[in-house]
Amino acid sequence: MGSPPKQPGSAIMASKGIVLAGGTGTRLYPLTRGISKQMMPVYDKPLIYYSLSVLLLAGIRDILVISTPDHLQSFKALLGNGDDLGVALHYAVQAEPRGIADAFRIGAEFIDENPVSLVLGDNIFYGEGLSRRLTTVAETGATIFAYAVQDPQRYGVVEIDRDQKAIGIEEKPQYPKSDLAVTGLYFYDADVVEIAQGLTPSQRGEIEITDVNNAYLRRGDLTVETLNRGFAWFDTGTHDALLDASNFIATIERRQGLKVACLEEIAWRQGWIDTDQVERLANQMAQCGYGQYLLSLVERG
Ligand code: DAU
Repeated sequence: MGSPPKQPGSAIMASKGIVLAGGTGTRLYPLTRGISKQMMPVYDKPLIYYSLSVLLLAGIRDILVISTPDHLQSFKALLGNGDDLGVALHYAVQAEPRGIADAFRIGAEFIDENPVSLVLGDNIFYGEGLSRRLTTVAETGATIFAYAVQDPQRYGVVEIDRDQKAIGIEEKPQYPKSDLAVTGLYFYDADVVEIAQGLTPSQRGEIEITDVNNAYLRRGDLTVETLNRGFAWFDTGTHDALLDASNFIATIERRQGLKVACLEEIAWRQGWIDTDQVERLANQMAQCGYGQYLLSLVERG
């Protein structure tokens, strides 16, 4: 069997990645009363595949999945230890939803003085050139990705000046200073652990990711990258948003015959698994379209 087509060489800023997949999921009840929000189907695969795919596209192979005590086991059953994909998957519990920045406290030992990328397990990113954007992030400080939305008050909102420099970030402001939402994808240098450890909970009782970003902003170390209109970003916080995301992915996949966030395909194109391995994985699910898609990759070589 031949080797997968190689991606062009790229520098990797973050060597560690975290997928935060906890929370209560109450806004999606009753869907999420018995299962994790990040297990919800988005067309043909579980929601967490999309965030995980972003880390893989960034070239990150050492990944910590954080979820609740009730749901962590189901992620282990779904994803295993990563061997299938040529990556290392680790797992940790967040006992209470203490805030997004809590991921760096839980993951302190895992991060171990390395740069790290955090992705929220309910976010979906799609667009031409995403891998290149992910592999060319600044090597120091923090990099966040902003995206214009119609309802910025639902998100962290960043105000930028003409040179794309951040002026300030506010969490769910009543009167947003821009329409630029901060998406759930963050790259940090190793200082993030100390910064997160020094935070105090906000009024809503959470260790806020916005406070981490503002700490980097204050020391002049925050880069804001804008994902323009050629990109799609979904946070799947409501029933409608979940349905929109499913419809979007179905439309793209059916039109192109190419899958979005197919983890096995990404690992293969990255050169982390060979064609025989893709075939093995495909044969485990040959009855469904997903498995048949993997087999078609093998056949096309
Ligand atoms: O999606 C992007 C937005 O995510 C950003 O614009 C905001 O700045 C950021 O605060 C966050 O806002 P959300 O309102 O979406 O945060 P939420 O509490 O819904 O948490 C996002 C995901 O992270 C959700 O799937 C659950 C998970 N989570 C959240 C918290 C607070 C955890 O796993 N543990 C937690 O403690």
